[in-house]
Amino acid sequence: MKDSNFLKEHNARSMWHPMAHPADSLANPPTIVTGAQGVRITDIDGHEVVDAVGGLWNVNLGFSCAPIKAAIAAQLDRLPYYSTFRGTSNDAVIELSEELRRFFAPDGLTRAFYTSGGSDSVETALRLARQYHKIKGQGQRTKFLSLKKGYHGTHFGGASVNGNANFRTAYEPLLAGCHHIPAPYTYRNPFNESDPAKLAQLCLAALEDEIAFQGANTIAAFIMEPVLGAGGVIPPHETFMPGVREICTRHGILLIADEVITAFGRTGSWSGSRHWGVQPDFMCTAKAITNGYFPFGAVMIAEEVAQAFESDKTGAAAIGHGYTYSGHPVGAAAALACLAETERLNVPENAAARGTQLFQGLQALADKYDIIGDVRGGHGLMCALELVSDRAKKTPIDKKTIGTVQEVAYRAGAMVRVSGPNVIMSPPLILTAEDVQIILSALDQGFAAL
Ligand SMILES: Cc1ncc(COP(=O)(O)O)c(C=O)c1O
Repeated sequence: MKDSNFLKEHNARSMWHPMAHPADSLANPPTIVTGAQGVRITDIDGHEVVDAVGGLWNVNLGFSCAPIKAAIAAQLDRLPYYSTFRGTSNDAVIELSEELRRFFAPDGLTRAFYTSGGSDSVETALRLARQYHKIKGQGQRTKFLSLKKGYHGTHFGGASVNGNANFRTAYEPLLAGCHHIPAPYTYRNPFNESDPAKLAQLCLAALEDEIAFQGANTIAAFIMEPVLGAGGVIPPHETFMPGVREICTRHGILLIADEVITAFGRTGSWSGSRHWGVQPDFMCTAKAITNGYFPFGAVMIAEEVAQAFESDKTGAAAIGHGYTYSGHPVGAAAALACLAETERLNVPENAAARGTQLFQGLQALADKYDIIGDVRGGHGLMCALELVSDRAKKTPIDKKTIGTVQEVAYRAGAMVRVSGPNVIMSPPLILTAEDVQIILSALDQGFAAL
């Protein structure tokens, strides 16, 4: 490893960072993380903090999960790679598929299609949804519906169903036939409705209206996150996702649950769909499936959809989609070990308890600081603060002020993520009560510094 002077001098010089302006990365070089243990990360200057970002919503079991590391090392020794394209498979991925089938049985999901990450999983689900309708003789069902504020990764399909202009405008034109409905976001919405139950009904009515306008028989699927994450942690009312499921079923539209961040315990339930009592037709997973230690994902497929593909005699169900790294044996071995640890530690229970503690602590901060316009959470370890310069007018905060909060909080012991006017928290699910206090105290110091 080069010395720290070299690394600091060359930071951002020869690489472009995702989700950043290259000039900004040069002017404000990123924090160089050089080590991690448990729920803590250490930077190049030896400063250690609680990672309230959890890597990037993925390191659910922390940075020291020995069984996953051992499984990866052993698999690298045994079989570091082989393809799962037609004609070959590997032992690890066969075993994983059976485990995932067991794990997702309560969600009605019985087959897996493997990917290299979240965006791949979204792309896969969108494509298979179109193909399903073609197999069923309804090839005109090609459109996709989704929520404004939703985040579905950055492939062209995912970007097209994304509900945030930041991930769309520079890359337009996007996929034709993608339409968006208002999100159940109580703090800001076109209905000026702050009651979550009423807002859920208004958004469902908007969905019905859009389906009628487009024509139900032109729509392939509706994609949504059970709790919107990257868009600023927006938990819908409990009636919302069941309502979406009912509408989709009635109109023959497939429901894709994008659970890239909610699968495997983050909401306090084993999956976000289960959290709301909904069985989707496809579920996109990635991130915590390997605890972030290996790039890997799985699209889980409902039994009825699987039957349509498997019983096809025309050839229409031949899958012309897949990745070199679909079913990667090292990823599969990592996922097997990760799933076993996730279940052994029963992480949803701790996610729920620590999530409530964090949410309540954030609400107490909002009583203290007017700059906090909205506090969102209450469903496991995913929380956000939306900052405003004027509470009554809900004026979004400027970049510099929120940057100061983040910087002071970091100095005071916690890494938090900033996205637009939101401070987002998605810490590892093995967080302790003391760790939560450290995050809250660091944020308190961040706000007090303004
Ligand atoms: C809900 C959701 N879908 C898809 C993605 C894209 O995943 P990836 O960045 O692994 O491609 C993300 C990433 O944060 C996500 O939160």
